[in-house]
Amino acid sequence: YIILMCLGSVQLDQLKEILEKAELEIYIEETIPSVNPRYKLHYHITPPVGWMNGPNGFAFYKGEYHLFYQFYPYDTQWGPMHWGHVSSPNLVDWKTLPTALRPGNEQCFSGSAIDNDGILVLLYTAHQSIEDSPFYNESQFMAFSIDGLDFHKYKGNPVNIFPPTGTQDFRDPKIWKNGNYWYVVLGSKTADHRGAVLLYRSKNLLSWEFKSVLAESNGGLGYMWESPDLFEINGKFILLISPQGMVSRGDRFKNTYQTGYIVGSFSYETCQFKPEINFQELDYGHDFYTTQTTETNGKRYLVAWFGMWESLHPEDIDGWVGAMTLIRELDLVGSRILMKPVEAITKLRQETILEGEFHHNSTIEFEKAGEVIVNIDLSENIELEFVGNNGGDRTSLRWSVDDGKVVLDRAGEVRQGIWEPLDTITWRIFVDASSIEVFCGEGELVFSSRVYPNGNWRVINRGTQALHVVAYTLKRFQNE
Ligand code: FRU
Repeated sequence: YIILMCLGSVQLDQLKEILEKAELEIYIEETIPSVNPRYKLHYHITPPVGWMNGPNGFAFYKGEYHLFYQFYPYDTQWGPMHWGHVSSPNLVDWKTLPTALRPGNEQCFSGSAIDNDGILVLLYTAHQSIEDSPFYNESQFMAFSIDGLDFHKYKGNPVNIFPPTGTQDFRDPKIWKNGNYWYVVLGSKTADHRGAVLLYRSKNLLSWEFKSVLAESNGGLGYMWESPDLFEINGKFILLISPQGMVSRGDRFKNTYQTGYIVGSFSYETCQFKPEINFQELDYGHDFYTTQTTETNGKRYLVAWFGMWESLHPEDIDGWVGAMTLIRELDLVGSRILMKPVEAITKLRQETILEGEFHHNSTIEFEKAGEVIVNIDLSENIELEFVGNNGGDRTSLRWSVDDGKVVLDRAGEVRQGIWEPLDTITWRIFVDASSIEVFCGEGELVFSSRVYPNGNWRVINRGTQALHVVAYTLKRFQNE
């Protein structure tokens, strides 16, 4: 005690921080053995214990990819937000690292990361409740690391970025660099509750100038836009947004919340974005909300929360909730973003369990994880059923010749879209312990859905025609 008294208050603060960090990691280590593994995904990022939602801080730093996520270690429900942390050499194998950010007076809401000359800088939203009131305050905080492991909050927080109007919803900064400037887009809303994205610019990361309202909802695109992103691909600019409050129209926008993009042009001089093609959903599945992207070697990679607010998560009684989608590589052809699973995913292939004809009513069985590539004859209806060998969710994937649609039907909850293949006429289907991802053709249609089989996965050909199929079992990714 006397020694502690002799240390100045700065050292005491540091000591407290070190002890609290260690306590959390010990808690996580000690809780992991109580997790029930039945639905735990084998090659998707999941929290070690507790709750996960949106991805944060996707960046390449000192030779590795880093990804963070909204994390509450102490329960399988959303709670005071931390940043969980994983890293990977290849976007396929992901190692769990110590929790990067813990809440203080603020909750650590979503944000992004950037390598600034060897320092990994995190920019995130500090969400602070206002006592005895439904209101809250959202400002932007920074944290730093010089090794990609240990993070320190900037003592001068909050960073000088403020909304032009007095909205309390001002979150999820996405940072990037162009020329001599840093840029940030933030998710927000107008005074009359229409989703909006705000753009800021800085020379030094600390003092920021408001440049423009990049885009705002015309009323049809919801009351709030979360997790925005802006990047260039094939000469066009993509504004990614996650709107809340959109109304479904026919087959589109059927999930509770959406994630999608507007294709347009952008000038760094005027800081104006001109939309050219209306908002489109990025993924057609049941569970896909908020994204992070990063660019390395000219390739743009994307990951999304493999989930959705207000959905049921049967794994919550197992000690964990939430996952990330497979990492996808993006391309833009015409008006549509194509998403392909990251190339290196093929390294998880273990055993080829079928290569050839897959007949009517025959079955492929995977213990937990597999990949099925189906060659499609567009002139015939197709129906594949996915179900556990002991039951559970029954999901059907169909091609319907009459209306040209691919349909993913999860126990009666239908998601579907018109498919006009660009080139390859195949489906690449990834199943994991409680998920399905379907990539059609070159990635012009993708469905990502959480599904919960009982026992081993069975894939059954319910169509009348034999299909040409290659099926692999997939192994777990390396978590070391
Ligand atoms: C989705 C999101 C973000 C917010 C965070 C709160 O990822 O709703 O907009 O910052 O989660 O956990």
